[in-house]
Amino acid sequence: MRPFEMNSFAGKRLLALVRDGDYAHAGEEEAIDRVFGDLPKRSDRWLLDVGCGRGGTADYLRKRGWGQVVGIDRDGDSLAYARARYPGVEWVEGDVCAAPRYLSRKFIQIYLLNVYYALEAQRDALLALRQVAEEGTELRIFDYLDRGGFAEDPLEVGGERIVPHPVVTERVSRDLATTGWRLLSMEPLSEEYRRWYAALARRIEERAPEIVARGGEEALDYLCTVYRGILGKIEEGLLGGVLVRAAAA
Ligand SMILES: C[S@@+](CC[C@H](N)C(=O)[O-])C[C@H]1O[C@@H](n2cnc3c(N)ncnc32)[C@H](O)[C@@H]1O
Repeated sequence: MRPFEMNSFAGKRLLALVRDGDYAHAGEEEAIDRVFGDLPKRSDRWLLDVGCGRGGTADYLRKRGWGQVVGIDRDGDSLAYARARYPGVEWVEGDVCAAPRYLSRKFIQIYLLNVYYALEAQRDALLALRQVAEEGTELRIFDYLDRGGFAEDPLEVGGERIVPHPVVTERVSRDLATTGWRLLSMEPLSEEYRRWYAALARRIEERAPEIVARGGEEALDYLCTVYRGILGKIEEGLLGGVLVRAAAA
């Protein structure tokens, strides 16, 4: 049995320790500023954080004036943490593919930070999110990119696929077009991903004693293997990063 997986409550808690904040996405706050820097800051804008995890990003955006934020995630333990830690954000437990069932309003900005790669049913998720979008709503997907060859040479640790469904350019274009979204742009972020994962791998080494104290040797081995593995795939040119922008059509 593995001690935890990247997307489990225990996994996200250890990542938060290594990343110095309640984030489980590449680049932490630098990435948030990169993804949202050009958006207006207005308190009447409603943002939906899909796969919000421990809630650090939603709180960061709300506190700095980007608008009102609702976070949705299917991991009840992470949401319980977020609810207690960040009361200014509204937290909703549920699967993104059933989002319209749980959300009683529509949003002008919807975003996913390192969530799309984890979705088994990416097209169903896009369809569901379109239903909580209004005219003019923009969707931003920040995630791993299969630069060609990653699907044939994936990363597996202890029998588990790490980064199981990265963005594939043709597929996401087709899925957006058939679910009511109009693709606006795809910005490559592979160089940033390389730099962010190199920094993360270094921080894991620096924080090794704390990681062992909290999660044991197995957790440290697992984190080292996963994140050195991701960095290796990025350096081989198989994996990278991307920011996809789309508008409700
Ligand atoms: C790598 S974490 C990223 C968390 C957060 N976006 C961040 O940047 O810190 C991926 C998150 O997606 C959530 N998730 C995965 N599949 C989901 C689904 N089908 N519906 C809702 N949440 C999902 C996981 O529970 C996890 O919290």
